[in-house]
Order: sequence, then structure tokens, then C-alpha cells
Amino acid sequence: MTKTTDIDYEDIQGLVRFGHGQLSASAFLLLKIADLEAARRWLNSAAITSATESTPAPQSALQVAFTAPGLRALGLAEDLVEQLSDEFVSGLGGDTNRSRRLGDTGSNAPQHWRWGGSAETTPHLLLMVYADPTRLDSLLTSIREPQFEQAFTQLAELVSRHNGPREPFGFVDGISQPLIDWQQQVSTDLHQRDRYSNRLALGEVLLGYRNEYGLYTERPLLNPLDVDRDDALPDAEDQPQLLDLGRNGTYLVLRQLAQDVRGFWQFVDDQAGADPQQREQIAAAMVGRQRDGTPLIAAAGEAIDGSEPSDRQNHFTYARDPHGHGCPIGAHVRRANPRSGDFPVGVDNWLSRLVRTLGFGRRHHGDDLVASSRFHRLLRRGRIYGVELTPEQALQAAADDSEERGLHFICLGANISRQFEFVQNAWCASSKFAGLPSESDPLLGNREPLLNAAPTDHFSIPRAGAPARCIQGLPQFVRVVGGAYFFMPGIKALRFITR
Ligand code: HEM
Repeated sequence: MTKTTDIDYEDIQGLVRFGHGQLSASAFLLLKIADLEAARRWLNSAAITSATESTPAPQSALQVAFTAPGLRALGLAEDLVEQLSDEFVSGLGGDTNRSRRLGDTGSNAPQHWRWGGSAETTPHLLLMVYADPTRLDSLLTSIREPQFEQAFTQLAELVSRHNGPREPFGFVDGISQPLIDWQQQVSTDLHQRDRYSNRLALGEVLLGYRNEYGLYTERPLLNPLDVDRDDALPDAEDQPQLLDLGRNGTYLVLRQLAQDVRGFWQFVDDQAGADPQQREQIAAAMVGRQRDGTPLIAAAGEAIDGSEPSDRQNHFTYARDPHGHGCPIGAHVRRANPRSGDFPVGVDNWLSRLVRTLGFGRRHHGDDLVASSRFHRLLRRGRIYGVELTPEQALQAAADDSEERGLHFICLGANISRQFEFVQNAWCASSKFAGLPSESDPLLGNREPLLNAAPTDHFSIPRAGAPARCIQGLPQFVRVVGGAYFFMPGIKALRFITR
């Protein structure tokens, strides 16, 4: 047991606990602070939705998060800003090495972004407004009263009119999420969690709690003597003599991803020789699930911690499919979460662990190539945008592709570099994932050749008893058009920052 204190849901922003799925419309306002005093007043009294459960569910929700320039603009002391993580402080679009690692090169490069690619276009804050589709516009009008207009200027407004279950390529999304260990009942002791588990330590999502290493992520801590009211912030769990500005807060990654729905289905159709059944199979192999969300892997026979056998959509791992005959190794969902444990199946006592740790006893050449999933989980909270174009419509010659559609990809996590950046870089963008050559994520890849001119635009579908089918010349289907790293504070921390 690692539980030390009860959870104060009142202090946590609701988006961490709920996706607000019943509020299917949303507007994400990207704002700059125009008038500091007006901004502080507005933010300090804003009715931010907390993570407390309420029945009936709320009719609307409001969440807020800040970039590092935004925290500075609000007057937060520089030493506190700098105690937040380096990647947050330097920003998503602010470092060419980071951009290269994340695949933000070529047409994905920050200099082409509509927002977030330069200091001028990087917002100070993100205001997230959720409502029923019939109420979104009136809610936005009521928010934009004179004090708000005085406080902020708007860089962009990312609207999602209706967040259905399917993302724009037509696949059911949002099926797999980690199960957060809110009660902190599961041991974070390394070696008690050798196998894949869907349960995730609270400190992987929120700052101020133990993470999967049993440690506390770095975050801004204050001496109570430096604060006018010592009840303004929660105590630091690991250093109770200090106040914790990070506790109950999380980092939020927002990337605006435009999807070429027509290009995707027409390419897949060409590869399938216009055969509808093959078309579905190739598309499903690229995603790693069928369009209706059915996994390409049979449900696991063994127990998976944090996953119920009745949840047929998620009760599986890839342990019994080492060669990718069921689900290709390079499929999007297998890259984004390889469902790997600290050790492969069969390694469950000190001797077999020792043997593996020394590099012996491998059953498959890929056994040790993929890191353990539990250190790299993402809590996804994205919303789709644009008018729906079904795969059938996309295949018609006169398909309308003038309107942009895509995903406002959002993920939350306590460690941007170990979670979002690792998944995006080492698992999705990498053309060496799990030993695969020449291919990156079939959905997300930017298809840019490597520095040594090696291609990255292949996708292989392994087949039992036959050579893998290798699809070549994949075009780019997803383009990054904006993005930023935000810090979504706990509600007491928000009041403190804007006091
Ligand atoms: C437009 C871009 C994207 C599309 C169309 C897309 C589509 C999908 C779909 C259809 C699923 C399966 C549904 C599910 O398992 O919940 C999925 C799962 C997932 N995606 Fe994406 N995705 C996109 C971008 C990203 C990005 C940028 C990341 C992270 C870097 C990501 C990470 C994940 C993860 C972690 C899962 C769950 C895998 C699992 O736990 O089995 N996705 N995505």
C-alpha cells in the first residue's frame, strides 16, 4: 500500500477524471493575456469544473491550462516556472531537436503551423469549453462578456461540433484508456508489476503523487513563509513542510492534426485493387483494430491487471502474437501501446528475471526491443473536428475534400518527455520500432527519409507461412497544423497563480 492521503477531487480539474463525453461539442480557445489585472480577476473567479462526481452530470464544463509564457505573463515567479519540466518550459514548437524527434519536420514543421509555431502564435492559455451541441454557441457568448474581452485576445478557436465515437478516418476511437489507481492501492514497487497491467499509478497522471517508479515527479514546491496564506496550496506529500504548486495538476499536450481522409481511403483502395474486403483488412491492419473497434487479437486467456475479461475490446496483449500475424507490429495501436510488461510472459521468478536481465533466455528476437508500457501511458482526451466524410464517400471520385477534418489530439500526463514524447518519438515516429526497418506509424508518419536517405514510407503486414506483405510509398495522411504544451493546474494552484 502506498496510499498516504485521500484524494481531494474538488481540487482536480474534471478533465483528468472524465472525458466529458456526454457534452459532445467543445470549443478550445487559445488566448493571449491582453490586460493582466482583468485576466487575473476573470481566471480567479472562473467556474472551473472539478473532478467531483455529480448527478445529474453537469450541463457544461470549463477547464483551463497555461503555457510557460502564459504563467510568466500572469506574474508567476521565474524560479517556480523553472521547477516545472524542461520540455514544458521550452515548449512543443520551440526547439528544432525536439521537432525532429517528434517527426515535426517537412510539412509538419512548426514554421508552417497556424498557432504554436512561434512566440507570437503561442497562446498564454487554453480555455476548454464543453457543452451540448445546442448550447455551445450561447455558452460561448455568455463567457465573452466585457471583462473577458478586456482580459484576453483570441489567437484561435478550435471547435468540435459533435464528438462522435469515430475519428475522421472512420474508426471507433477512445476505446483503450489506462485505469487510474485513484485509491493508490497498487504497489509501485518494481518487480511486483512485471506483467502488462492496465492500471496506472496516480502519479503518472497527476503531479504530487507517487508514479510507476514509486517516486514523485519534480514540481514547484514553496516555503509556506513565502506565501501570504498557508492554506492556499496543498502540502507536499513527500515534504510536508513545503507547499505543492503542482499537486493535482497535470501537463496537457494539444496537437491539431489534420487528416487526409480521402487520401487515406483512396490509397488503401488502390492497394486492395478496389476489393472492399481487402480494403477493410489493410485499413484495419494499419490501425490495429477493425473500424468498429474490434481488436485484431483474440481476448487474452490469462488475467490482465486492470482489465476485465468481459471488456472484449481491451482484454488482450500481444504476448501470443510475437511475429505480428494477428496485429502487425507496426500498426498504430500496437506502436502507441505495445501492452508490454517489464519482462516477457514466462519470466516470473527471481531466477528467470536474473537470466533475462543478463541478456539470456530470449524466445523471440524482438523480446527486449520494446520498453515496458507502464512508464509510457497516455490519458487521451482528444476531440474530432470537421464535417464527417465516410470511407464510402471518400472513395467517390467527386468526394468533397475542401473542408479540413482531423483531431484535436489531447493527452494528459505527469511527464511529457517520458509519456507523450516517448510514445510519439520512440514508438510512433521511429522507423526502427521493435526492429522494423523503413517504416514509421502508418497513420502518423511524416514519410520523410532518414538523414542517410533511408525511406520510412513502408508498412509491412506479416503473414503466417508466407512472406510479409510490404506496402510501399505510403503518403502522409496526418499533418500537424498547430500545437503547444500546457500545464493544467489543480484548482487551488489556479487560484494561487491568479491571485
Ligand atoms: C489523427 C491522428 C490519430 C488517429 C486517426 C488515431 C486513431 C486511433 C484509433 C482509431 C485508435 C484505436 C482506438 C483505441 O484503442 O482507443 C487509437 C488508439 C491510440 N492512439 Fe491514436 N490516433 C491518432 C493520433 C495519435 C497520437 C498523436 C498518439 C500519441 C502520440 C496516439 C496514441 C494512441 C494510443 C496510446 C492509443 C491506445 C492504444 C492502446 O492502448 O491499445 N494516437 N488511435
